Amino acid sequence: MKSILITGAFGQLGLACSNALQTKFRLIKTGLNANSVTNRLDISSKKSVESFLGQHTPDIILNLAAMTDVDGCERDPGGANRINFEGVVNLCEGFKGHFIQLSTDYVFNGLKGPYLEEHPTDAICVYGQSKLDAEKFLINSKINHTIIRANVLYSYSPDTKASFLKWVVESLKDSKGINVVRDQWNNPTSTNSLAQFINWVVLSETYGLYHYADTGIMSRFEFAQLIAEVFGLDSDLIKPILTSELDQAASRPLKSGLRTQKIQNQLSIVPPTVQASLIEIYNSLKL
Ligand SMILES: NC(=O)c1ccc[n+]([C@@H]2O[C@H](COP(=O)([O-])OP(=O)(O)OC[C@H]3O[C@@H](n4cnc5c(N)ncnc54)[C@H](OP(=O)(O)O)[C@@H]3O)[C@@H](O)[C@H]2O)c1
Repeated sequence: MKSILITGAFGQLGLACSNALQTKFRLIKTGLNANSVTNRLDISSKKSVESFLGQHTPDIILNLAAMTDVDGCERDPGGANRINFEGVVNLCEGFKGHFIQLSTDYVFNGLKGPYLEEHPTDAICVYGQSKLDAEKFLINSKINHTIIRANVLYSYSPDTKASFLKWVVESLKDSKGINVVRDQWNNPTSTNSLAQFINWVVLSETYGLYHYADTGIMSRFEFAQLIAEVFGLDSDLIKPILTSELDQAASRPLKSGLRTQKIQNQLSIVPPTVQASLIEIYNSLKL
């Protein structure tokens, strides 16, 4: 049985990937603040990574660890670079297996999305630039790698710390009004849907750069309305606002989203619609 080191294994996507991969692979799950000391690995520490990879010899590394707080990255560009870029360099040092890196639509400027893999990149915030630097490092390296770009991931696990879906559902259930931006466009993707694709990439040993996203470009406001519809909640509580009203530290790519023609044409993979993924989550919760 092949082994996979999953970094960031206790984050939002990590939980879904652990479920999807656990029957076919021996998982070595690590996180920055993992409960058990043996599961702790700070990818920004070259020494810790070297020592960890000296003791464990994974066939595959699935790198989900990242500083994902976009405004936090803007305030601490050094930290973002250490984790999102140098962390990848550290993990690749001497590694001879299959390296899978999760990247983002934030490598684009958001002027002309949704984007194909070959569209020119132009990050407009520190988070996006640090993820783009990691992509460039991998592309120019001799490492056997897969880069998967995703956008607006969501799940409804009790262990998920920050989730847009949970926030919308819990607010509307409590009859609380919420403000949601109407000028950021994406195709929101369920972590279960992406984890199935990652499972497929690992099993088929597929290399290269791919976009993966559920089907359906929509504004965040429209996504919140769709959540309300699927969960049978009052969509009148959702008010549309503009990104500029939020006064955030980092710029966001507004007209973004990922086109998935490449996986459809080359790999014959057709992602589910956003609505189908939401319905699957709703049915699994039995609310
Ligand atoms: N969320 C999205 O909408 C989205 C969209 C596109 C791409 N992505 C990419 O998908 C991947 C997974 O994202 P996610 O949504 O699952 O994020 P997440 O829930 O924030 O999980 C990221 C994990 O990284 C860990 N981490 C942070 N700094 C670390 C370090 N120095 N060393 C080791 N681990 C560290 C955190 O561990 P602790 O919990 O222990 O702090 C956390 O569990 C990331 O690469 C992200 O850039 C996410």
